[in-house]
Parts: sequence; structure tokens; C-alpha cells
Amino acid sequence: MKSAAVVSALAAVSAVQAGPAGGIKAKRAVTPITVKGNAFFKGNERFYVRGVAYQPGGASGNIDPLADPKVCKPDIDKFKKLGINVIRVYSTDNAKDHDECMNELADAGIYVVLDANNPKYSINRADPHPSYNAVYLQSVFATIDAFAKYDNTMAFFSGNEVIHDHVNTTRAAKYVKATDRDMRAYIKARGYRKIPVGYSAADVTDNRLQTARYFNCGSDEERSDFFAFNDYSWCTSDFETSGWKQKVESFEGYGIPLFLSEYGCIKNTRNFGEIESLMHSNMTHVYSGGLMYEYSMEPNNYGIVKIKGGDVDGGKIQTGERQELPEFAAFAEALKTWPAPKGDGGYNPNGKASECPDKDEHWDVEPGTLPDIPEGAKIYFTEGAGKGPGLNGPGSQWASDQASTGDNGQTGGSSENKSKSAGMRGIRFDKASLVLSGLAVLMAGLVF
Ligand SMILES: *[C@@H]1O[C@H](CO)[C@@H](O)[C@H](O)[C@H]1NC(C)=O
Ligand SMILES: *[C@@H]1O[C@H](CO)[C@@H](O)[C@H](O)[C@H]1NC(C)=O
Ligand SMILES: *[C@@H]1O[C@H](CO)[C@@H](O)[C@H](O)[C@H]1NC(C)=O
Repeated sequence: MKSAAVVSALAAVSAVQAGPAGGIKAKRAVTPITVKGNAFFKGNERFYVRGVAYQPGGASGNIDPLADPKVCKPDIDKFKKLGINVIRVYSTDNAKDHDECMNELADAGIYVVLDANNPKYSINRADPHPSYNAVYLQSVFATIDAFAKYDNTMAFFSGNEVIHDHVNTTRAAKYVKATDRDMRAYIKARGYRKIPVGYSAADVTDNRLQTARYFNCGSDEERSDFFAFNDYSWCTSDFETSGWKQKVESFEGYGIPLFLSEYGCIKNTRNFGEIESLMHSNMTHVYSGGLMYEYSMEPNNYGIVKIKGGDVDGGKIQTGERQELPEFAAFAEALKTWPAPKGDGGYNPNGKASECPDKDEHWDVEPGTLPDIPEGAKIYFTEGAGKGPGLNGPGSQWASDQASTGDNGQTGGSSENKSKSAGMRGIRFDKASLVLSGLAVLMAGLVF
């Protein structure tokens, strides 16, 4: 831990570096996380995700906890006590400022993995084609703009559980992968650091491997930088009975980093023994750790901290006392007992592409080309995305300017019009039933 004097000196130095999107922001100097082969690195050191899902207010709250220091600061104190190094945040408001929370996290050595989607601005798994449009991408790119400036932004998720347990939902895969591709292209075009982009898959046996292969197949422009999936199959169990051993075998030789974007079954008394295996050579050659679901206690009962009293944002988010539940100590103890291993964990340095999966009864995706980016979104690569719509804008799922429809692409209009008015064009109000939950909705019977 750096002393306060050193930290502010570093902040002063980095404050004079303007970000590519303009605007001079004070940001802390931390070592960014990079990808090499199938592993993450912090400088020359292998980096494992040892974190928590952070979603105070729950999935339905759709609240950005990093936009309000009154919310994030008491939680960061708890994160430090736990000894975690990553949090996952599901909803962030791309119209708000995050300097204070992000810098406080950086000072604590904590990185952030962000979902670039939110319930109103996302791919609709029931009707994916129209939802892949310029209004959607404007929001995604604005989220990138809002967080690219922080060195402790570890990675972006291009989608969360869009592909689900019904084969029809696999038809959404090419739109999520197109988004993933576009995010990487945007990061490059805007001159940002190479922030990793990847998908977070639901805990679904029928299509987990195909999804993993799909996101790592094709050209380098199309391949994700990492793959993550949610896994609730270890219920106070062990490496073999949980089925994790077979999963490691099935992912043997996978070319990009793999980690659990959620784990933490609550069926039995939780001891977080998952961490022992995640940090063991049984797994480290293929996996790079995971995020325990979840930090705050919500109606689904996965939390380790109860947030009481006070409220902001219409009572949806609580700012009061943080009460540690018994699982808090158990989780902290597990992290302490099973630290990140020394050395490189036997990672595979030659990350190579997977074969694209064939279409079959579980995977209704033609191998082949991805949808082209919607015409109206191309302008963002040169002009930037402009102001984000935030979490409560009109939504994007039925906006016009979809991919490759040819009939309603917004090819006219000045670039001024496109970049400024993207959030307003042709939108019907979003009544999507899409559930952007932190937890697979249908986990029952899904054994690998
Ligand atoms: C899946 O798609 C097929 C063909 O489009 C359709 O007939 C069927 O009703 C769909 N099933 C579900 C559960 O949506
Ligand atoms: C490692 O794998 C062996 C063989 O499957 C198993 O017996 C052992 O319990 C595993 N240990 C951990 C910590 O996963
Ligand atoms: C900008 O958009 C408005 C509303 O869609 C339109 O009436 C106007 O002609 C556009 N301006 C240019 C320069 O394209």
C-alpha cells in the first residue's frame, strides 16, 4: 500500500495526462491488467480474479454503485477487509462521474470488471436482430468512454447471460459477438489502452462449451479477449464431486483467459472451498479465478453483508450501516487460507483460436460471418460516442438503424446529427422482458 503522500503525488502526475476522449481527469496510477495467452497479467505477474459481484440494490434495482461515494466508500472498506482484488459491477451510468469511487478502489488495489450493458440498453435475447442497433452501441461505447480512463478498469463484459437455456436464445450469440467485436474496435479506434472485452455466460450445460468456442473463433478482430461463465455447481463440495474436474478437462487448451463471472452455491453452509481449487494447479493452467456471488444481501439470499438504513435514489439503494453476515468472515478466511499461487500457474502462452462450433440441436448458430456494424454507429469510431444515455433513458431494444436490414439504416444526416442525437432516434419505449439478472434464472437441473 502506498502512503497517502505518494498516492497524491502519482495522482498529480497522471492528472496532467488528458484521456483520448478529451477532458483531464485525475486518476490513480495502477498497473493495468493485460492478457497473455490464456492468462491475465499485472506487469510480469500472473493475475487471478479473487473478487465479488457488487450489486447493492439487486438486479432489479439497476443502480450504479460507483457513481455515489456515499455508497461505494463504506463498501470499499469492507472489500479491503475481505482482501479481494476485483469487483464486478452490473450497471453503471455512463452519464455520471465515477472518479471518486474508482480512485478509492484503485488506492485499495481493487480492479473493476464492468457490464457494458444494462436492462434498457442491451441485446434482447427474444428478438436479437432489432436490438443490435446504433442507439444500443452508442450507450455501450459511452460506457467505455466513462471507464477507459481508469487504469483499474480491468475488463468489460459485452453481454451477461444473453444466451440462455433454450436453444432459440443461442440465435442471439452472433449479435453479442458482434457487440464484443465492436467494443474492441472502438477501444482501438479511440486510442484507449487495450482493455480486455469478453462475454459472461449463464450456467447452462447444453451450450457452455459451444459458447466458449464461439467467442474464441474466427479472426483476431472477432475473437474475445477472455471468456467467463457463471457456475453454481459447487455446493460445499470438492473438486471432483462438483464436476469441476471434468470442466477443467473440457476446457484444456482453451486459448484465452477463462474465469468464473459468478460462483457461490448457497445450498449448504458456505465455506468457499471453491477458492482452494481455483488457486490450485488443478485449475490454474486453465482458469484465472472467479467472482463470488455476491457482496450485498438481496432477496435471493446470496449476500455476505447486510446494508441497513438510509437511502438514496428513491430508496432503492442503501447507504447505512454495513452489517457483516457470518459468510463474510468465512469468505475472508477462505481468501486468506488460499492465496494466489506464486509463479505462472502453468498457463498456456500460445493462446490460439478455437474451431467455430457446428450448428446442432443445442446450438442454432450458422458458423460464418457476423452482422456488420449498423451504419449509424460507424461515426462513433471517429467522433466518439458523445454523452451517454444513462440507465434511465428511453432504451435501445427497438431503436431503428439495425444491422444489415438495408431498409431503415440511418445513413443520412450529418455526423453532428448522428453523434448528438443517437439516443433519440426512432425509439419506441422499451418494455422488454429481458432479465439482466446477476444469477442464472433457471439453474435447476443444470449439471455439467
Ligand atoms: C423457437 O423458435 C422456433 C422457430 O422460430 C419457434 O417455432 C418456437 O416457438 C420457438 N420456441 C420458443 C420456446 O420460443
Ligand atoms: C486436485 O485434484 C485431485 C485429483 O482429482 C483431487 O484429488 C484433489 O482433491 C484436488 N485438489 C484441489 C484443491 O482441487
Ligand atoms: C438533423 O436531424 C433532423 C431531425 O432528424 C433533421 O430534420 C435535419 O435535417 C438533420 N440535419 C442534417 C444536417 O442532416
